Amino acid sequence: MIISAQTAPQSRHPIPRRWWHDAVFYQIYPRSFRDSNGDGIGDLDGVTTMLDYLNDGTADSLGIDAIWLCPIHPSPHRDWGYDISDYCAIDPDLGDLKSFDRLIAEAHRRHIRVILDLVPNHTSDRHPWFRRSRGSRRNSKRRWYIWAPGKGNGPPNNWVSAFAGPAWTYDPFTDEWYMHSFLPEQPDLNYRRAEVAEAMHGVMRFWLERGADGFRVDAVSRLSKDAELRDNPAASDRAGASRSDAGGVRVNFYCHDQPEVHQLLRGFRRVLNGYGDRMMVGEVWPREQPLLAQYLRPDELNLAFNFRFFKSPYSAGAFGAAVRDNDELCAAGAWPTWTLSNHDFMRHISRYESDNATEGRARVAAMMLMTLRGTPFIYYGEEIGMRQVDIPPARRRDPMGRDGCRTPMQWSSALQGGFTASPAGPWLPCGDYLRTNVAAQARDGRSLLALYRRLIRLRRETPTLREGVYRSFDGIPQDCLAFYREGAGRRLLVMLNFAHEPRQTESPAGTLLLSTEPDRLPQSLDARLVLGADEGVVIDLGAA
Ligand code: NOJ
Repeated sequence: MIISAQTAPQSRHPIPRRWWHDAVFYQIYPRSFRDSNGDGIGDLDGVTTMLDYLNDGTADSLGIDAIWLCPIHPSPHRDWGYDISDYCAIDPDLGDLKSFDRLIAEAHRRHIRVILDLVPNHTSDRHPWFRRSRGSRRNSKRRWYIWAPGKGNGPPNNWVSAFAGPAWTYDPFTDEWYMHSFLPEQPDLNYRRAEVAEAMHGVMRFWLERGADGFRVDAVSRLSKDAELRDNPAASDRAGASRSDAGGVRVNFYCHDQPEVHQLLRGFRRVLNGYGDRMMVGEVWPREQPLLAQYLRPDELNLAFNFRFFKSPYSAGAFGAAVRDNDELCAAGAWPTWTLSNHDFMRHISRYESDNATEGRARVAAMMLMTLRGTPFIYYGEEIGMRQVDIPPARRRDPMGRDGCRTPMQWSSALQGGFTASPAGPWLPCGDYLRTNVAAQARDGRSLLALYRRLIRLRRETPTLREGVYRSFDGIPQDCLAFYREGAGRRLLVMLNFAHEPRQTESPAGTLLLSTEPDRLPQSLDARLVLGADEGVVIDLGAA
């Protein structure tokens, strides 16, 4: 019951508050959210029709504030939209510019902001820029990409793709190699040419003018590469090894976190600043975690994803360490973010699978996500506990095997989970929609969906949860995590029991605001609180 004597570092650097500090974001994988035209593929009109589910202004909707749409542009879909062949159009599978405009208008009418996925690191190899670049060494677009002569019979250096194999592909027509951080069909742009950054600014402006509220920026730490294309050193020389190097582990030293990336982000930020209240959140995988802070300097990214929970086992120790580290990282005035799942990783409810504790674990994790200091990102379907789906080999679409977390949203127990009316079925198989679906949970006050709604509403109605400082609360059983949130004249205590057995705690007396256990009655709590198995609570300790 000791309030950590140390002043929480975040309080030393007040951040001017903007909407993204208070918002709850909801990530949508558009092909899998809702199919409006019966072709088996989710689309933008489908998203628009479900906006009321996301936030209709009443307690009967989820209550999120902003949507992040995964890529919506034309693409040959080697990497499902992350290989873009036209940045200023809509993938015909998803709709057209009119459907985009409708989505923005309807979302804004409900005070929901919309951010788009900006993929500036690479294009598709079918993008006209790359076609021209590949066409001849003398083409004006040649240097928009990273071309180099090989060394001996091999590639120019030892860089490896984040996916598999070398980061270089030989092009016999012009007898040079081009660089790709991901698939060979995703050549990296060369930001050492000013025109490339200008072109990307043009893309940003195009969507900002059309009403986008900002961007999730893909692969940020890879945007700039060493000018001399030097070999990465051996892992023994430096920390931060890349696992994908077949020839022995190497460090992403010269193809990651290069100083020029910060200049580039400042350029992106200037574009955003020209449009008022717009933002960007970066997908940053720095080669060493402390480097993340550099991307969050006041004139660079507004937010960066914090992926620590993706790698944390379900334990108080692991989550607590992730929270402490992030707290330190954000000490310089950066604002934290929290996320449990996205389109690249196994869904967290499946990561936390454990006999009869799975649902309880998802509930406690949800409370943690929504009560920590920082902006939470929810991945579509997590609010109903959608599981990772085992995809039969014949139905697999993603070369990196990520389909299982990208399956159709489970709206109801109707055929295809209410996702599509296509007789041919959905583009990816559905999960178990008979067991887990929105319609059933919307009627059930004890459901996971009902808990998410309550948590989001509590956050919205409680400035302390959004703005308050974070202080750890010590002296609780080791498989529990507890912390205070203090600010806006109030003090709250969050206690999370990660064990599948009850745990007795000693806490200051207060009033229960919310429990993950629907049967716990609202009550005043005295100093001896028994947390149930897999239970989390938020307690109001009154005026601070
Ligand atoms: C990160 C995205 O989240 C992932 O889906 C994609 O494959 C890579 N970047 C390449 O764009």
